[in-house]
Amino acid sequence: MADLNELSEKLALLKQEIEGEIKNLSNSKVAFEYRKGLMDSKTGKIGTLMREMGKIPNELKAEYGKKVNEIKMWAQDRFEELESKLKEAEMAERYNSETIDVTLPAKMRPIGNLHPNTQVRNQIVDIFGSMGFEIYEGNEIETDYYNFSALNIPKDHPARDMQDTFYLSPEFLLRTQTSAGQIHVMEEKKPPIKVISPGKVFRSDDDATHSPMFSQMEGLVVDKGITLCDLQGMLDVFVQKIFGEDTKTRLRPSYFPFTEPSVEVDVSCFQCHGKGCKLCKGTGWIEVLGAGVVNKKVLEGCGIDSNVYSGLAFGIGIDRIAMLKYGINNIKLLFESDLRVLNQIND
Ligand code: PHE
Repeated sequence: MADLNELSEKLALLKQEIEGEIKNLSNSKVAFEYRKGLMDSKTGKIGTLMREMGKIPNELKAEYGKKVNEIKMWAQDRFEELESKLKEAEMAERYNSETIDVTLPAKMRPIGNLHPNTQVRNQIVDIFGSMGFEIYEGNEIETDYYNFSALNIPKDHPARDMQDTFYLSPEFLLRTQTSAGQIHVMEEKKPPIKVISPGKVFRSDDDATHSPMFSQMEGLVVDKGITLCDLQGMLDVFVQKIFGEDTKTRLRPSYFPFTEPSVEVDVSCFQCHGKGCKLCKGTGWIEVLGAGVVNKKVLEGCGIDSNVYSGLAFGIGIDRIAMLKYGINNIKLLFESDLRVLNQIND
């Protein structure tokens, strides 16, 4: 290389070539490879420049070295700039492609509700539980004695027709009423007695409001001086908690062999508040349960002195309360497990 002008030209061309090449370097990996090639001391266009120092006349060596160093420094700066730009872009792209959308709603896992009957049963248990009632669990299979005779419904008594019975044998049957539990309780416990007894009962009966199996909640209180007033007081609290604060009760004379006097209990219609609507059939009142003062014959039959003690009893139809409370017009809906119905009831 005769003079440095030639070198300067060569370096200028090399710079141009590098600039042109840089435009095609689309990622940091190819940029690194290209730079490595350029700087390689045996093959690289910049790397080999120093080796040519030997051919340069002594007086030009310093200048030559300076120029070669300059292009080396230039290339280094240029590539550092390029690589940091490429890395930044690559990082941004990676963040973009690996982004997790934390706002995506989670997959919903469907969870069930308690059955409407169970919800109502729990509510009733809570209400009477808060009044100091204990729970007695009776038997679904009973003898004729507990389900009927001991409740003052002797064989051939017309009251047996009130409840179409599934007999298992002449002696055993599926209980038609939780009242059968009253007798067990009075045989096992001495007064004061204050129990509720929830459970399934069975009658050969089947229409829109009756099912062969349904649920009742029996209530029994036996103590000194228990009267119909105690019954109404307790039931007032019960219906107000179940149907709403302004609900009233009305007792109508009725007949059950095991209570004397016997009553049907109506509640003021919680839908129309007494004005008359479809639910209360225009009367303003809805019948919800049967009740009464425990018949002295029943007390005596269980060995309780009816001159000292008196009692009250009530039987609540749990399905009926659930249907009224949740606006269910066919009892079959309580047995069909239709989620469109059940999901609406979460009390
Ligand atoms: N056992 C009666 C029935 O099923 C209801 C009832 C219970 C009535 C307790 C009076 C007292 O119809």
